[in-house]
Amino acid sequence: MDVLEAIHARRAVRDYRQEPVADSVLAALIDAAIWAPSGINLQPWCFFVIDDAATLASCSTRAKAALQDAATDHPELAGLRPMLASPSFNIFYNAPALIIICATTADEMALKDCCLAAQNLMLAATAKGLGSCWIGLSETWLNTDQAKADLGIPGDFKPVAPIIVGYPNRAPAASSRREADIRHVGRAAWS
Ligand SMILES: Cc1cc2nc3c(=O)[nH]c(=O)nc-3n(C[C@H](O)[C@H](O)[C@H](O)COP(=O)(O)O)c2cc1C
Repeated sequence: MDVLEAIHARRAVRDYRQEPVADSVLAALIDAAIWAPSGINLQPWCFFVIDDAATLASCSTRAKAALQDAATDHPELAGLRPMLASPSFNIFYNAPALIIICATTADEMALKDCCLAAQNLMLAATAKGLGSCWIGLSETWLNTDQAKADLGIPGDFKPVAPIIVGYPNRAPAASSRREADIRHVGRAAWS
């Protein structure tokens, strides 16, 4: 699969087979991630891997609780309340593995670098027959001091991209895209 095929085949996968992802495969995905470009080649990232079902279930429970608390202050999250309140809803969709890409420095450029690493990782997952999904709903919890302490994430690291990976149960249909808004800047304007 070439890179354009991977770009078009990637989907947010929310239904996984209960099949572990081998350490060597996870390592290959992270290797793809670190080949992303980064400002001044600082490579300001660190990868935390959770591939234990009990730990992931516990993380889901904590992340949902943190979001429910946040929903009190943020009306835009109110619609999520029923889902978050359901004990059967796993925020990580019962995926076998979660890779949390953390920025190791506080600057904005490091956030961009981590996002590029995340996209590389998701495309590599597609190329290897795996599904992936960025779980932004877990970020509120991941960025608490308590979560960082529980997961062994240093306090000065910033969790940026929590990405679940695993073997898809079924291939999701493609979501839609708006047509690209392309505006050509006329050369005449510069003469
Ligand atoms: C920053 C970011 C956060 C996301 N957070 C979630 C999430 O918490 N839960 C979820 O199910 N999908 C999440 N997604 C997946 C998007 O919903 C998905 O990428 C989008 O609907 C487009 O679908 P596609 O990825 O299949 O093309 C997130 C995606 C991004 C880029």
